[in-house]
Amino acid sequence: MCGIVGYIGKRDVAPLLLEGLQRLEYRGYDSAGVVITSPKAAGLKMVKAKGRVRELEARVPKRFTGTTGIAHTRWATHGAPSDENAHPHMSGDEKVAVVHNGIIDNATELRAKLEADGTVFLSETDTEVLVHLIARSEADTLEERVRQALKHVEGTYGIAVLHADFNDRIVVARNGSPVVLGIGEKEMFVASDVAALVAHTRQVVTLDDGEMATIKADDFRTYTTEGSTTTATPTTVEWEAESYDMGGHDTYMHKEISEQPEAVDRVLRGRIDDRFSTVHLGGLNLDAREARGIRRVKILGCGTSYHAGQIGAQMIEELARIPADAEPASEFRYRDPVVDPDTLYVAVSQSGETYDVLAAVQELKRKGARVLGVVNVVGSAIARETDGGVYVHAGPEVCVVSTKCFTNTVVAFGLLALHLGRIRDLSVADGKRIIEGLRKLPAQITEILKTEDEIKALAEQYTDAKSMLFIGRVRGYPVAREASLKLKEVSYIHAEAYPASELKHGPLALIEPAMPTVAIVPDDDLLEKNRAALEEIKARSGKILAVAHQIQEKADHTIVVPKNEDELDPILMGIPLQLFAYHTALALGRDIDKPRNLAKSVTVE
Ligand code: F6R
Repeated sequence: MCGIVGYIGKRDVAPLLLEGLQRLEYRGYDSAGVVITSPKAAGLKMVKAKGRVRELEARVPKRFTGTTGIAHTRWATHGAPSDENAHPHMSGDEKVAVVHNGIIDNATELRAKLEADGTVFLSETDTEVLVHLIARSEADTLEERVRQALKHVEGTYGIAVLHADFNDRIVVARNGSPVVLGIGEKEMFVASDVAALVAHTRQVVTLDDGEMATIKADDFRTYTTEGSTTTATPTTVEWEAESYDMGGHDTYMHKEISEQPEAVDRVLRGRIDDRFSTVHLGGLNLDAREARGIRRVKILGCGTSYHAGQIGAQMIEELARIPADAEPASEFRYRDPVVDPDTLYVAVSQSGETYDVLAAVQELKRKGARVLGVVNVVGSAIARETDGGVYVHAGPEVCVVSTKCFTNTVVAFGLLALHLGRIRDLSVADGKRIIEGLRKLPAQITEILKTEDEIKALAEQYTDAKSMLFIGRVRGYPVAREASLKLKEVSYIHAEAYPASELKHGPLALIEPAMPTVAIVPDDDLLEKNRAALEEIKARSGKILAVAHQIQEKADHTIVVPKNEDELDPILMGIPLQLFAYHTALALGRDIDKPRNLAKSVTVE
């Protein structure tokens, strides 16, 4: 998704902004641009380029100096990737420059009106309407000009505005698209993602929807789009700048898969209570009486987070015996759902900024529901909109494809399920059993990661497949779904997940030697049923790769994973398939950290 970075201070701004843009590259983009000025400069200087930040860098002229600037990486929505459509966008008199994340829904009609009044547009973007609206305002201050322009706009935005006549400041605004201010020593930063800031400062202020800010080199203030002053409380970002480095790995995906033992250790740390065989989740804001009153749990997320939520729902049903299910937030928000006061809603998101999830949370809150968050990014929009929740503490996830966050989110659900279970019917003995299982996870993940060479060799045998089927039953089904998503995202091999129990009801027709099946076969009460599915596939000459706790005779290959408690097995069974997807993609020469057409956080509809 698009990225914004801005700076005002004393340093040479262009290299600083280009470095910031590089740190946002992981979000996915197709063009980039930068505009700069300085208190002494007569106007604004801009460079833009279709393609990567290095192409932009190559176009930056030698004497491109200044101490104030805003920059952007664009992910095309309105208009193809091109130099003209890249941000920043400037007014005809070259006085106003804007970078924008989000989508302006009424851009077509605003554009028609502006064109009818003689405004000449230079790009096909929705953003450009904002530039002209700001440029037309004759208000005394830049803040008021931006505010007047925003009144005409419907949709989502995170914007940063630079004006040649007010070049001692940058004005920013947020509605549905993240904006974070970074506070330095006599310098200020702005970005859409802390990744662009942490190398310089860890003191940040996250804007709320409907909030604006004016940043100057030695000062900042926040206020609403209506003009009333707001209180901005700076917080400290936990993540170190180094957490965004590749750390000796060739890709972020590989680094993040490898980090899982420590990441899981972090999500467990300080939360286990051996005395009462339960866990403490400090941020839940749900007392025991309220928790006992819950009649249903509904988990909402998108993509990988939705799959983590499916495993979470299964764990909550098993351990707390509360009916639970997961649904894509993107569907939920559009189907006019019945909002039930006795249901606990849980929003799951790595980034905490996914628009579909945020919109579902806002709709639920409007209707009086209690909503918790299971989120990775501290202080993100979803973390702040929800009534409480569990942070998953996976650390920054840079690769577009989610791996360690999936695992940590599922572990966080294990903690939530145990907590809910122990204040209801779950016995001390079962609580103890689950705690022991949770504690074993980091070492067991390390054991799985040690089999990487074997998994790599296996993956190389499946690269010819045009399509693959992933199957699992009950606990194994969401594991199959996530593994199939991982494979298609990163290798572009078509993959489809099905419940193993549904094979006979259709997908068996696909089975032939050229259609391999990956089967999740845990040693649990459904083992024999899963084995029967393998027989059915083998009888039709299908090739099988099993992920199991013991070698499966009917399978062509088995990846053996360590056994944990039945309820926790799904956490481990997906990990070898992350490596499988990774090595398949590597063998096929894919751009692993930036799969085509995908972005890290989807902050637009
Ligand atoms: C898949 C992937 C996406 C995200 C989805 C939700 O590897 O990364 O499917 O899981 O876009 O993102 P978050 O979790 O940030 O809400």
